[in-house]
Amino acid sequence: MTLEFIPIHKDFGAEVRGADLTLELSEEAFSEIYAAYFRYGLLLFRGERLTPAQQAAFTARFGEPKIAPRKQFNVPDQQEISVLGNLRAEDGTPLAFLNRQGVEWHSDTAGNEDPDGITFLHAIEVPRAGGETMFCSMVAAWEMLSDERKADIAGRKVLHSFNHHNDKVLRIGPGTARPLTPEERAKYPDIWHDLVQVHPVTGRTLYFASHNLVKAVTGVEGDPDAAESWIMELIDHATRPERVYVHAWSPGDLLMWDNRAMMHSATDVGPYEEDRRIMYRSSCRSVFTGAERVAD
Ligand SMILES: [Fe+2]
Repeated sequence: MTLEFIPIHKDFGAEVRGADLTLELSEEAFSEIYAAYFRYGLLLFRGERLTPAQQAAFTARFGEPKIAPRKQFNVPDQQEISVLGNLRAEDGTPLAFLNRQGVEWHSDTAGNEDPDGITFLHAIEVPRAGGETMFCSMVAAWEMLSDERKADIAGRKVLHSFNHHNDKVLRIGPGTARPLTPEERAKYPDIWHDLVQVHPVTGRTLYFASHNLVKAVTGVEGDPDAAESWIMELIDHATRPERVYVHAWSPGDLLMWDNRAMMHSATDVGPYEEDRRIMYRSSCRSVFTGAERVAD
């Protein structure tokens, strides 16, 4: 198997050609893909038709698989795979997790003590138009800051709060969020992350913040809205159009990305309400250190 890595954006990302992920990869091919994953931050495989079991096996080669907490949307006999999209049973019961928030830049599970290391997303059915996923590099974003701004943000900490985020989504209106019980809320303590981090594998500097979860930033006075506005400037900087790759999905595409080094966002669901969109998602732990839980 000869692998080729074709860059897909000036800042990050490569399409991998010559791999067939339905077959078990040799150690040599796996090592090449593993190194390219860290180098490019995002890898695209096309024309794959992985079963949930095959995707779970591929995921597990990169690290310990994580199980998504919304268990009703996980594949029954393959819990490592969760189903995203607008699939519904005949009686209207959702059979997949649908994010209706539109553009919302984030790293997956940024509010956790142990955020996802790698996310894998495999397109099973895609709408005729819409449903794209967008990506940007937090390494490139850091590099493009002025020296003054770098000095200003270095050393700060960001408080990520899943509960704060969930409360905000509930206030927006009916969607996929639901009120959490006190026991559930206790499972998601607020977590401080270093805003500026050095990637433990690549050694590259980046910044890590998911704005919708931000409740406070060290050195920023005021309420959570003030902290979020302060962070939004950094998000806007990272997501300027020329720094974003927009992936228009074809069935069989599989994307995997480094959640520490990248942010991503869904796009509005409106344009494809009439069509089906079904994606298999998996994730695994990878090198992710430096989080600090807020004492109860
Ligand atoms: Fe996500």
